[in-house]
Amino acid sequence: MAKKDQTQFVCQSCGAITSKWVGKCESCNEWNTLTEEAGSGSLPKGVSGGKGGKSISFVGLKGKSAAPPRLQTGIKELDRVCGGGLVAGSAILVGGDPGIGKSTLLLQACGGMAAGSKCLYITGEEAVDQVRLRASRLGLENAPVELAAATNVRDIAATLDTKGAADLVVIDSIQTMYTDAIDSAPGTVTQVRTCSHELIRIAKKRGFTLFLVGHVTKEGTLAGPRVLEHMVDTVLYFEGERGHHFRILRAVKNRFGATDEIGVFEMANEGLAEVPNPSALFLAERRGNVSGSCVFAGLEGTRPMLVEIQALVAPSSLGTARRAVVGWDSGRLAMIAAVLESRCGLALGGHDIYLNVAGGLRVSEPAADAAVAAALVSSFRDSPVSPGAVVFGEIGLSGEIRAVSQMDQRLREAAKLGFTEAWMPKNAGRRKQAMDTQGVAIDSLGHIQALVGKFSS
Ligand code: TYD
Ligand code: MG
Repeated sequence: MAKKDQTQFVCQSCGAITSKWVGKCESCNEWNTLTEEAGSGSLPKGVSGGKGGKSISFVGLKGKSAAPPRLQTGIKELDRVCGGGLVAGSAILVGGDPGIGKSTLLLQACGGMAAGSKCLYITGEEAVDQVRLRASRLGLENAPVELAAATNVRDIAATLDTKGAADLVVIDSIQTMYTDAIDSAPGTVTQVRTCSHELIRIAKKRGFTLFLVGHVTKEGTLAGPRVLEHMVDTVLYFEGERGHHFRILRAVKNRFGATDEIGVFEMANEGLAEVPNPSALFLAERRGNVSGSCVFAGLEGTRPMLVEIQALVAPSSLGTARRAVVGWDSGRLAMIAAVLESRCGLALGGHDIYLNVAGGLRVSEPAADAAVAAALVSSFRDSPVSPGAVVFGEIGLSGEIRAVSQMDQRLREAAKLGFTEAWMPKNAGRRKQAMDTQGVAIDSLGHIQALVGKFSS
C-alpha cells in the first residue's frame, strides 16, 4: 500500500491509480489521461482484516417494502424519463454538452416544484445574478426556489445534513465542487468521486432527491470519471444537435424505471417546452413525393416515434465512393448497401451515399434497416416512396426482413398521424396473434427484393 503522503497518478478517464506516470492508461488504454494527485485521503485507509468490525446481519429476499414515494416535477417528459417521478433519496446525474440546456431544465424543474416542496439550487458555475437573470427569462422569479453559489462540499454537506433541509437539491455542476480534504484540483477524478460520494450519502440519509449536473467530453462520455455513473441511481443524457431547437433527454441507466426512455423538449425563448407529440414535430418539414425520403416508424423506449430518413445516392466523381451518415450507424449503412448490391443487384458501388435522419435525431434501432433501404432505393431509382407509407423492419444478411418488437404500437402512431400504409415484416415470431392494424393497410414484406420491387426502375 502507498504511504500516506506519496503522490499517485490517477487516470481521469477510468479512475485507475498507478504509482508511476505512464502515457497510456493500462486499465482503459486511453492516452494522456493520467494526472498527479496527492495520495492522502484518496486511498483506502485502515482496512483492518476484520479486526474491530461488527458482524452484519442478513435477511431473506421476501419482505414488504412499499413502492418508493415519487415527487412530480410538473414537467411530464422529465417525470416519465425518470420512471414516473423523482424517487426520494435517489441521485440523478444529468450529463450533456455545454449550452445544451441542463441548467435551464433543472431550474425549470425546481421552479415547478418549489410551491409544494423545498427546492435548493446550488450553482458552482454561475453567479447568483446570472441564475436570477435566467429565472426571470423563464418567468420563475417568484418561485420560492432557494438559490446559492457555493463550491465547497464541506459547507454544502453541513447545510444539507439536517432534518428537513430539502426535498430536492440541484448541484450545478459536480465538476466545480471540491472538498478541502483532498489536495487535487476540482474536476479531477478523486475530487469528483469524493464530493459525489459525500453528497449521495447525505441524500440517502436525509431522503431528498439529488440532481448532479455533469459535463460531457468531446468523445461524448461524462468528463473525467465513469465511476460517477456507477455511483448514482439514474443517468440522464441531455442531447441535441447544434442548430436544431429540440432537445432529447435520454435515460441510459435507471434503477427506478426503464432505460432508453426519452423525453423531447423544444428550446424556445422562454425556456424548454415539452413536446407531447414528437412525431408531428419531426415530420413537420417533410416534403411529400420526393425521391430518397422515407418515414420510419420507430420506437424510443416505450414511445413510438415517426422520423423521416433521407438518402441521396449520386454517381461518384472520385475513385472511392463517399459514404456519409448523420444520425445513424455508418457500419449498418455499409451493410444495407452491401445487401442491396449482392441480393438485389443494385449497382451502388460507384455511387456516393449520403444518409440523414431529419431533424437531428439519432436512431439506433435495427428496425430502421428497411426504412434506410427504402430511402436508398428510392433515391437510386429516383422514384418516391408512396407518401402515405411508413416503413420498418430489420434486414438480415441474406436479405430477409425480420420482425421487430411492438409492431402494433408503431402502427398506432402511424394511424394517428394519418398514414395509410405500412411496409413491414410479416407478423412472425412467438406471438402470432392477430394484430390490430388500426385501419392502416399492411404490406408484408418477407425479403428485401419485395421492397426493391416497389420502386420502378
Ligand atoms: P444552459 O441551461 O445554460 O445550458 P447548460 O447548463 O447545459 O450549459 O442553456 C444555455 C443555452 O440555452 C443558451 O445557449 C441559451 C439557450 N436558452 C434559450 O434559448 N432560451 C432560454 O429560455 C434559456 C434560459 C436559454
Ligand atoms: Mg449550466
